[in-house]
Amino acid sequence: MIPISQPSITQKEIDYVTDAVKSTWISSLGKYIDKFESDFARFCGTKHAIAVSNGTVAIHLALVAHRIGPGDEVIIPNLTFVATANAVLHAGAVPVLVDIDPFNLCIDPNKIEEAITPRTKAIMPVHLYGHPCDMKAIIEIAKRNNLLVIEDAAEAHGAKAYGKTVGNWGDCATFSFYGNKNLTTGEGGMITTNDEEYNLRCRYLRDHAMSKEKRYWHTEVGYNYRMTNIQAALGCAQLERIQDLMQKRAQLFSWYSKALNNIDGLQLNRTSDWATNSYWLICLQNSNWKTEQERDEFMLRLKSSGVDSRPFFYPLSEMPYLKADVDTPVTHAVYKRGINLPTFYDLAEDQVKTICDCIIENLNA
Ligand SMILES: Cc1ncc(COP(=O)(O)O)c(C=O)c1O
Repeated sequence: MIPISQPSITQKEIDYVTDAVKSTWISSLGKYIDKFESDFARFCGTKHAIAVSNGTVAIHLALVAHRIGPGDEVIIPNLTFVATANAVLHAGAVPVLVDIDPFNLCIDPNKIEEAITPRTKAIMPVHLYGHPCDMKAIIEIAKRNNLLVIEDAAEAHGAKAYGKTVGNWGDCATFSFYGNKNLTTGEGGMITTNDEEYNLRCRYLRDHAMSKEKRYWHTEVGYNYRMTNIQAALGCAQLERIQDLMQKRAQLFSWYSKALNNIDGLQLNRTSDWATNSYWLICLQNSNWKTEQERDEFMLRLKSSGVDSRPFFYPLSEMPYLKADVDTPVTHAVYKRGINLPTFYDLAEDQVKTICDCIIENLNA
């Protein structure tokens, strides 16, 4: 079975992790934490990066550090992983769901302004499946309406909008380093920002809001959202390989395109002309699938031929606890006809060929 994703672990990762373990600095202090934070900030072009235990708590911490909570609304796309909405709910705020751009599948800037109310505090664009959002347009809307911008960059390490790396556009940004991401620490996350005061506030809340002057003195509710030195060691090794890791994903896309480009009804990832796609996952849309069932039957046939795949995210507005009466026709049309195909560093060209042959055979079946 060809899996949908698989982390790339080389001797470098093994050496760094072994070194971290042997050093006995196995909790959340140690040289790899400091190095991972400063190297990741450099990679994004930001002044600061704060390592945390996963991408979901990165969003939660980013929100509460901005004092977003009960009574506030945060604008997010209707097509994203549920963590984006859950983190907003954990903060006590309300996620407001907006439709996506049919071309690049990210939040549609033209739909944002109509969702703004007096309670809106922030826009949280999600760089979906590796494609950056139109950050120029989003920043303009945020400025005009005096809103914060928190980028959810969990899926888009190294993607660029208008030549500038994601993570360096908003007031802050969040990343995930889950095992299927372009860069992994097993579990892990990061907040990036250029604001010194905000950086300090995130660090303080990450560590139970402990007073800097007086140990074990706490003036507000904080969290244990720390990353371990062992995870950071893995992250440092991956970050040293990031250019190679990213190039391979672009190459995978070109192999898939060559095989699937001219097939009736099929559409692979599309990249806006101002964007550099980091291709977290290869996306395949088939306009001939009119129902979820048709799509799911195809995925089952693919699986029985030895190829794993996964469906696009469901619209968040369909989740029983998020049930919202929103008008998002693009999200609702797109999710039914979309799947993600195997996308990982060690996938070889002949395997991509096999996957594409299976797709073509099963489409014709
Ligand atoms: C868009 C998005 N936001 C947030 C997250 C949450 O990250 P994590 O799984 O590290 O908590 C993910 C994870 O895949 C994601 O895809």
